[in-house]
Amino acid sequence: MTQDELKLEVAKAAIEYVVPDTIIGVGTGSTANFFIDELAKIKGKIKGAVASSEATAERLKGHGIPVFDLNSVDEMSVYIDGADEADAGLHLVKGGGGALTREKIVLAVADKFICIADDSKKVSVLGKFPLPIEVIPMARSYVAREIVKRFGGEPVLRDGFITDNGNVILDVHGLKIVDPVALENELNSIVGVVTNGLFAARKADVFLCGTKNGVETLTA
Ligand code: A5P
Repeated sequence: MTQDELKLEVAKAAIEYVVPDTIIGVGTGSTANFFIDELAKIKGKIKGAVASSEATAERLKGHGIPVFDLNSVDEMSVYIDGADEADAGLHLVKGGGGALTREKIVLAVADKFICIADDSKKVSVLGKFPLPIEVIPMARSYVAREIVKRFGGEPVLRDGFITDNGNVILDVHGLKIVDPVALENELNSIVGVVTNGLFAARKADVFLCGTKNGVETLTA
């Protein structure tokens, strides 16, 4: 099976977690795109969706799925999104597509987080995938110095990339993240950091993992 076929399988499996007559949160990335295309087939069963990026909003609208502003939504049944890495505790690294801040905000409102990914994203220790950190542009050098001083690693500015919020991304290479909850909180304490790509304090509730033998349903 190709990686795209695995992504399609987990996207289809995630449809089972869509709660009828509710608003759902939708993530960003290639796996989330497969999910949006599947969601389109049952769009009449939900009230609509909140998008975690401009790209996701465009794709949802393209399918005729109503897109709500998060400020008009106080309840969301489920958030469905991909990940760049997942450990056995279902702590995640996200933000490879640069949408980490809106992803974390939309997730905060949702009752449940269903992560969908192929099994290449499963790791024993997070950190091989460079950890994305969204930063206010004027703070990028300060934040990079603080990261090196406090945690080591090598922050690299994502060249030519501006987030939907008008900020920049530092991708931190070479971290070995043994305590993701602590690191998530410590990174948040650096002035100028908007969001870091660790989804650990709020992690996935269910990980639908695409393997060549079928979709595994993992819980922590
Ligand atoms: C977007 O910012 C990311 O958090 C994505 O959810 C993550 O990078 C997974 O993307 P793919 O599904 O394209 O691998």
